[in-house]
Amino acid sequence: MNLLITGGAGFIGSNFVRYMVREHPDYRIVNLDALTYAGNLENLEDVEQHPGYRFVKGDVADAALMRTVLEEHTIDAIVNFAAESHVDRSIMGASEFVRTNIVGINVVLELIKGHLPRQVGGRFVQISTDEVYGSLERSGAFTEFSPLHPNSPYAASKAAADLLALAYAHTFGLPVIITRCSNNYGPHQLPEKLIPLMIANAIENKPLPVYGDGLHVRDWIHVEDHCAAIDRILHNGRTGEIYNIGAGNERTNLDVVRLILAQLGKPESLITFVKDRPGHDRRYAIDATKLRRELRWEPKHDFERGLAETITWYREHEAWWRRIVSGEYREYYRKQYEER
Ligand code: NAD
Ligand code: TYD
Repeated sequence: MNLLITGGAGFIGSNFVRYMVREHPDYRIVNLDALTYAGNLENLEDVEQHPGYRFVKGDVADAALMRTVLEEHTIDAIVNFAAESHVDRSIMGASEFVRTNIVGINVVLELIKGHLPRQVGGRFVQISTDEVYGSLERSGAFTEFSPLHPNSPYAASKAAADLLALAYAHTFGLPVIITRCSNNYGPHQLPEKLIPLMIANAIENKPLPVYGDGLHVRDWIHVEDHCAAIDRILHNGRTGEIYNIGAGNERTNLDVVRLILAQLGKPESLITFVKDRPGHDRRYAIDATKLRRELRWEPKHDFERGLAETITWYREHEAWWRRIVSGEYREYYRKQYEER
């Protein structure tokens, strides 16, 4: 297979590149990434020398470049991770979210429709999110039939992308599959998302900023389990379908923060309640029955153990996250937390 992975220098994308190189060493893998603030080639140092792996710096919304990549590498499947992915940044300004998440996918869909129907006869897997469904009350879980109700500009841009992709599948018969996964954790996640931010702050004895009352619930999945699900869907999923991905690990944010503090031997007095996120979704929970039944996927990582291993990874890779928190991130952190 000649596989194009877009956004493969970010958190989930780099874990997926590594996963695919390990599981399918005979595949040719092209990783195209714009290397925005979230993209980091250090995430991929261990796969750079793999003979089937190529990196291309580029923008998914650049049609000419995308066409060249598809033709030169005779790509026959695409997994699209390229996105602006952070809710808080989308609240500060959404234009990049519209450009990458919506215009970007439209460029790819047009290319595989008009120019490369033969080569891309395989699959176009769009990596979406459970956030397109909006927020849940105390009970129930999102199924693939739940109505779309995105609440943040980020979620709205992802929902728009899903609808475009499904419309192209319906109208032009493109081999599109949508995946909607819950919150991921694991190595190489930028310390602007909950778990790595809290780990980094706790290590530095800095306040741990919990939004609102801290009782918002997220449904956590280890990034390796997400990668395994995408691999399964890429090869065996039905085109035109949506697959929810989740591991059934609902925790309040406060529970997660307390686990991190306990594991690091730090006091709970570091927890600082700060002003809530505007429009903050209260609860996410995923029903992944379709994926489990149809494709026989099961998550392998226990949440508490996976979190402990993730904390160990951050302790052993301080240079990785310290380089990030000393750069552009500083200005982001000031705006996001000190002016709150
Ligand atoms: P991330 O922000 O860590 O990585 C995004 C990557 O996309 C970066 O490498 C960035 O450089 C690249 N990128 C951004 N704009 C680009 C452009 N115009 N052209 C090419 N590359 C571009 O995000 P992530 O957490 O790894 O998420 C990856 C995907 O998974 C996203 O589509 C996100 O919506 C989805 N998702 C994430 C989660 C989660 O918990 N992190 C959960 C479900 C779904
Ligand atoms: P985040 O990692 O941004 O993921 P998402 O908003 O996409 O679910 O946030 C996860 C949860 O943690 C969410 O309820 C917001 C909360 N949160 C905090 O309380 N403090 C923080 O500093 C951050 C980044 C998130």
